[in-house]
Amino acid sequence: MLTINLENQIALVTGVSSGIGAGVAKMLAKAGCHVAGCGTRSPSSEGAQQFVNTVKTTGSQAHYFQVDVTKEEELKMLVTATVKLFGGIDVVVSNAGQNVFKGALECSQEDWAFNHNLNLKSHWCLSRFASPYLKNSQNGALIIMTSNHAFTSMPGCFPYNVTKTALVGLVRSLAIEWGPDIRVVGLAPGFIQTAGGEAWFERFVNPADEKNRTMRLHPVGKLGTVEEVGAFCAFLASDFGRFITGTTYLMDGGRSALMQDDSK
Ligand SMILES: NC(=O)c1ccc[n+]([C@@H]2O[C@H](COP(=O)([O-])OP(=O)(O)OC[C@H]3O[C@@H](n4cnc5c(N)ncnc54)[C@H](OP(=O)(O)O)[C@@H]3O)[C@@H](O)[C@H]2O)c1
Repeated sequence: MLTINLENQIALVTGVSSGIGAGVAKMLAKAGCHVAGCGTRSPSSEGAQQFVNTVKTTGSQAHYFQVDVTKEEELKMLVTATVKLFGGIDVVVSNAGQNVFKGALECSQEDWAFNHNLNLKSHWCLSRFASPYLKNSQNGALIIMTSNHAFTSMPGCFPYNVTKTALVGLVRSLAIEWGPDIRVVGLAPGFIQTAGGEAWFERFVNPADEKNRTMRLHPVGKLGTVEEVGAFCAFLASDFGRFITGTTYLMDGGRSALMQDDSK
């Protein structure tokens, strides 16, 4: 049986209090990682507690830090506290992010700065702070969460799509500068089932119809799950991913392969 074995590896995952980050933490833990995670919610919040409990259920250790990844001092603390607690860092999944969905004309300077600080700069800063520890690891892997919006987009998804496209360049630069010690891989999920995804459908007059229409846009006939994204991260961080760096993987259920006029 082929098994992804990350036993006793230390993973640092940002944005574990909901959505994709929670799924990544769960699957890395299932593969054997101890997981440090963060979000801005308090450690007593439901999302933070759920993260800790889910990881601990697998037999791995977990620690949640209340950290705003846009604040450099807090990011530095996240990295040093993780190393102090667990003894090192082998895997980083830099995942925390948010949508700012505006038109290019209506997007304000504040919107632009907010989204670039969170969705672009914070990934660079975390990568830099974690790099000495990843370098010390025998298998340093850095996975940066971008989006299918890095490849195709739609009107009104600005500047989110700009930040996610820029991450593809960040992945390339870090991979070529930090190899062979650290592998750097981008992951670009398409529509993943999360609370935010459900909220998107709720904006339509008939949310169920819109969800069915969206699913039909995917040749796989469904939306993605956070566990599927997490399992791919585990694979990328494992020995099976040793020949993979400097690239960004689109994981979109085939949506971008389907011509837009063929969506029945
Ligand atoms: N869901 C999708 O379909 C999809 C598709 C493509 C890409 N993505 C990307 O995947 C990542 C996760 O998205 P998601 O859908 O899982 O969103 P989500 O459910 O809203 O989760 C976002 C996570 O990021 C954390 N976060 C947000 N701002 C933060 C900050 N300043 N400091 C620390 N943590 C922060 C949140 O924690 P708190 O709430 O505790 O602050 C939360 O845990 C994002 O980078 C997103 O762009 C998602």
